[in-house]
Amino acid sequence: MKRIITLLLLGLAPFLQAQQINSTNFLKQIIPFPLGASLNPRLLEENLAYRTLAASEFNSITAENHMKMALIHPEANRFDFVKGDEIVAFAKKNKSRVHGHTLVWHNQTAQWMKDFQGDQQAWENLLKNHIQTIVKHYQGQIAGWDVVNEAFLDDGSLRPSIWADHIPDYLAKSFTWAHEADSKALLFYNDYGQDGKPKKMEAILNMVQDFKKRQIPIHGLGLQMHISIQSKNEEIKQVIDQSTATGLHIHFSEVDVAVNPKNNPDFVMDTIVQKAQSEKFLLLFSSYAAIPVKQQYGITFWNVGDKDSWLRGYFKRPKEYPLLFDESYQRKGAYEELYQWVKKK
Ligand code: XIL
Repeated sequence: MKRIITLLLLGLAPFLQAQQINSTNFLKQIIPFPLGASLNPRLLEENLAYRTLAASEFNSITAENHMKMALIHPEANRFDFVKGDEIVAFAKKNKSRVHGHTLVWHNQTAQWMKDFQGDQQAWENLLKNHIQTIVKHYQGQIAGWDVVNEAFLDDGSLRPSIWADHIPDYLAKSFTWAHEADSKALLFYNDYGQDGKPKKMEAILNMVQDFKKRQIPIHGLGLQMHISIQSKNEEIKQVIDQSTATGLHIHFSEVDVAVNPKNNPDFVMDTIVQKAQSEKFLLLFSSYAAIPVKQQYGITFWNVGDKDSWLRGYFKRPKEYPLLFDESYQRKGAYEELYQWVKKK
């Protein structure tokens, strides 16, 4: 009998726990670093639940797409700040910080940039003008910028791109130009998949060392953390340690934990998978909490609810559940577990 009651209570535990959190208890209020999400302005406008959650659950905001080259600088002589400004205004209204993403990237470049013809000086003028116009537009409103995104390949070599191909030392130049435009903004190098890719990690660390030696301004490293339940804990911890050892600010900048990376059409999010996902979120948060406080820039999720995730849209994986909020914008078990974990600390 006793056993049955114990089992019953154990079964009820998640619900009892869930009850302890209500709409006046938020993870962002009890964790000692900013908790962020990337946002889509169309969803902000159209979807009340999305907007409500974005405002109440997060205190750092990144534009998922609207500060990227193709959208913010669609023509050589035209910048389009409308959507970026909307995101900044939303953040301001909710007293959230804004993180800028991203000034230079090989992806989502504008067509006119791909078609551009010119010598090295002309390319440098183009990129400098791009960076400085945007950074100045948002001066004082954006805490930090991903200056360059994903510049290294897995083997540690510089990724070929229109920037790498036309501008020698474009990484250092980009950081210098950004710093000239806003000397107060924190400047980040952002990349993904460092875990299990020692050559890529090494290239990033070498860049940091080189920048320090040459006094090129760099203040932080963004680790995107698009991980999955299959990612190896030891590899994740190692890249966090290596990044932290630089002494720079550390941002987990685009967190999601994929549960169905192979896009199995019959995938079911059962309790085993839920547990594996919660454990990965806990691993990320506990490793992050171990970083010296002055280096903690924050943890940002790559959008809000499972159905908003790029893993569904961009990768076309309808049965993917990588975030802290479900399809109806309810907190998932992982949220409750994180909350309890922080509470206990
Ligand atoms: C993704 C967006 O989420 C998608 O909506 C878009 O179609 C492609 O880009 N690394 C990054 C992000 O730095 O900018 C990417 O965002 C995801 C991978």
